[in-house]
Amino acid sequence: MQLFDVYPLMNVTPEKAEGVYIWDREGRKYLDLYGGHAVISIGHSHPHFVSRINEQLGKIAFYSNSVNIPIQKDLAGKLGKLSGLPDYQLFLCNSGAEANENALKLASFATGKSGVIAIKGAFHGRTSGAVAVTDNPNIMSPFNAGHQVYFERSGDLAGVEKQLKSKDIAAIIVEAIQGVNGIQVAESDFLTGLARLARQYGAKLILDEVQAGHGRTGKFFAHQWTEGLEPDLITMAKGMGNGFPIGGVLIHPDIQAKYGMLGTTFGGNQLACAAGLAVLEVMESENLMENAASQGSSLIEALTRVSSEITSVRGKGLMIGFDLKQEAAAYRSELMVKHAIFTGSAAGKHTIRLLPPLGIQQEELQLFINSLESTINQKETV
Ligand SMILES: Cc1ncc(COP(=O)(O)O)c(C=O)c1O
Repeated sequence: MQLFDVYPLMNVTPEKAEGVYIWDREGRKYLDLYGGHAVISIGHSHPHFVSRINEQLGKIAFYSNSVNIPIQKDLAGKLGKLSGLPDYQLFLCNSGAEANENALKLASFATGKSGVIAIKGAFHGRTSGAVAVTDNPNIMSPFNAGHQVYFERSGDLAGVEKQLKSKDIAAIIVEAIQGVNGIQVAESDFLTGLARLARQYGAKLILDEVQAGHGRTGKFFAHQWTEGLEPDLITMAKGMGNGFPIGGVLIHPDIQAKYGMLGTTFGGNQLACAAGLAVLEVMESENLMENAASQGSSLIEALTRVSSEITSVRGKGLMIGFDLKQEAAAYRSELMVKHAIFTGSAAGKHTIRLLPPLGIQQEELQLFINSLESTINQKETV
C-alpha cells in the first residue's frame, strides 16, 4: 500500500530524540528548534514523561467516556492551577482542530447563532469548521465552504463591530499570536476590544492557544500577556502532550454543560491524561515557563543584532519568527544540512519560525545564532 502523498518532506529520518536533540538513522545529531510544529514542550523523551506513560500503560491505557476516569480530574486540577484558571471547565479531545471544532460548536450551542468572525492570516486546523475559519482558500474544499465565516484584519475593531451588528455571530475566534502566519502578535487593545464587543453583542470569544499555549510564550497562555482578558473558550493541543496526541477546550464557568452536547471516543483516555499530567508536572518542577520567558527574550535580542539581512523579529518567549530579505528556504536548508539545526517555515516565504522545547539553554541558542550568522555571511559572499 502507498501512503497518501500530501506532505513535502525534508530528507531526514529521525530515529532517536532526547531533550532538544534528534539523531537520524546515520547517527547525526541535530538541534531541534522547531519541536515538530511546536509540539515538543518539555523536551523529547523526557524521563518523567516516559516513565509516567509506561506506568499508566501497565495499568490501563484506555476505556471510553462511559466510566469514571479519575486521572481526567487530576489533569483538570493541575491545568487549573498552572494556568491560573481553576474555575474553567475542561473538555478533552485529541488534536488542535478538534479542540477548535468543539469550541465553535459550544459557542453556537450557547448563543443559538451560527456565524463566526475570524482573523485574516489565521490558522485553526483542517476539519470542517476549523478550516472554514482558517484564512487559506488552498486548503478549503467546497464541502468546507458552507459555513458563515467573516474575516477581519487583526486590529480592525470597527470591522468586527460592523459584522457583529449586521450578522448572526456566535463566536469570534482569534490567536493571541498567529503561528502559521509567521508569529504575528495581536495588540492587547485589539484582544480586549474583541472581548468587549463579544460581550456587547452576545457572541463568545474563542482564544486559540493550540500553538501558543502551555508555557511557550513565558505565560501559560499567550493571551495572558493581556491583563484582565477572560475568554469564553480556550483551545489547546500541541505542547499539551509533548508528542502524545491530546487536545482540550477550557470552558468559562458561565457555559453550562448538557449530556450529549459534545463527545469523543478517544478524548480523555487514561494514557493521554498521563501524558498531559507528566507535561504539567515537568513544566512546574523545571520552571519551564520562566525559562521560556528569559531564554526567549535573550534570543529575540540576539536575533535583532545578527545582520541587516534580518528585517524583522517578532514573538514572545520561545515563539519567535523573523524575516529575511531573501526567501528563507535556502537558509533553512543550509542550517539543516551544514549546521544540523531544525527550524520551521511559515506562510510567508521570507519567514523562519523558532519553536524549540521550553527547557532550551543559552549554549544551544548561541550555537544557533553563530550558525545563522555564518549562513547569512556565506550567502552574502556567494
Ligand atoms: C493555532 C493553531 N490552531 C490549530 C491548529 C491545528 O492543530 P492540529 O494540527 O492538532 O489539528 C494548529 C496547527 O498548526 C495551530 O497552529
